Amino acid sequence: MSKKPQKFDSDPKTTGHQWDGIEEFDNPMPRWWLYTFYLCIIWGIGYTIAYPAWPMINSATAGVLGWSTRADVASEIAAVEEANAPTNAKLVETDLTEISADPDLNAYAVSAGSAVFKTWCAQCHGSGAAGAKGYPNLLDDDWLWGGSVEDIHATVAHGIRNEDSDDARYSAMPAFGRDELLEAEEIDQVVNYVMSLSGEAQDASKVEAGAVVFEDNCSSCHMEDGTGDRAQGAPNLADAIWLYGGDYDTLTETVTNARYGVMPAWNLRLSEAEIRAVTAYVHQLGGGE
Ligand code: HEC
Ligand code: HEC
Repeated sequence: MSKKPQKFDSDPKTTGHQWDGIEEFDNPMPRWWLYTFYLCIIWGIGYTIAYPAWPMINSATAGVLGWSTRADVASEIAAVEEANAPTNAKLVETDLTEISADPDLNAYAVSAGSAVFKTWCAQCHGSGAAGAKGYPNLLDDDWLWGGSVEDIHATVAHGIRNEDSDDARYSAMPAFGRDELLEAEEIDQVVNYVMSLSGEAQDASKVEAGAVVFEDNCSSCHMEDGTGDRAQGAPNLADAIWLYGGDYDTLTETVTNARYGVMPAWNLRLSEAEIRAVTAYVHQLGGGE
């Protein structure tokens, strides 16, 4: 049995809804709550006028205060650059070979260079600089073009075999097979000879003939003993460290079509201080001379 609650005139108004005898009061929102709510709306509108807010097709409304995260970052970067400017200037003025003698300058160069490396070089040479097929390992002391600071600096600044820089290092191994400079049989022989240089298992019956082919066609760049020539960027073929690979098939491909590895010229993109920093970084990785 339900008993209706007694009603008084002083009771708040109800909305008229009722569930199981429970009635819903129609009390107004507390004033403090309402005013806070209106204030928030006003604040919200003000905010969208003052700051970037409404998305448009390509951008957003800029806001009358002209504030932007991009400008913020730009000014922070500018501040860092300004703070580093004297050190960068010193880096550019100091003789390349003397950078490592100044501990502070060297520490700065190596850490700045490490950042440059991770941004611009890691894609090809690997984040740890160990390289990949066709992209030289920069940790070891096997160099195509040389591992002194000056050599590395020249390689990085001007690049290798690219048309963008007149001072790029340049060399091209002929495509002996594709351009029909050698017969397939001669390529087979010389490949076996090259394998013998680093002590890989090879067809010994072809090595002698291969040595003659090598002497006539390859020694001008790779030297008679196959140890290579840095002035020409011709790799050492006798050390079992391979840029492309030392197995029979890879060697045949290299000799048939040549490789023509290209590295960009960084002086078109990086400042001299950045190039020197990354040079110092690469030089201290382990293979520096
Ligand atoms: C697009 C790929 C690519 C990028 C990016 C690149 N390199 Fe290279 N780099 C190469 C290739 C390919 C070679 C080897 C070219 C050859 O066969 O002679 C090379 C060679 C080098 C050499 C010479 C190694 C030796 O044995 O003499 C150095 C030093 C070097 N790179 C440093 C750098 C630095 C520092 C950066 C970043 C500023 C960089 N590279 C960015 C592709 C790249
Ligand atoms: C004009 C100079 C030149 C001549 C001649 C030449 N090479 Fe090369 N060779 C190079 C250069 C430069 C490279 C570096 C790879 C590139 O082109 O990026 C190379 C790379 C190679 C490689 C790849 C090594 C690796 O570490 O993967 C092999 C193998 C090779 N040469 C073998 C030969 C043989 C065999 C001959 C003769 C039939 C020959 N080369 C003639 C300049 C030469």
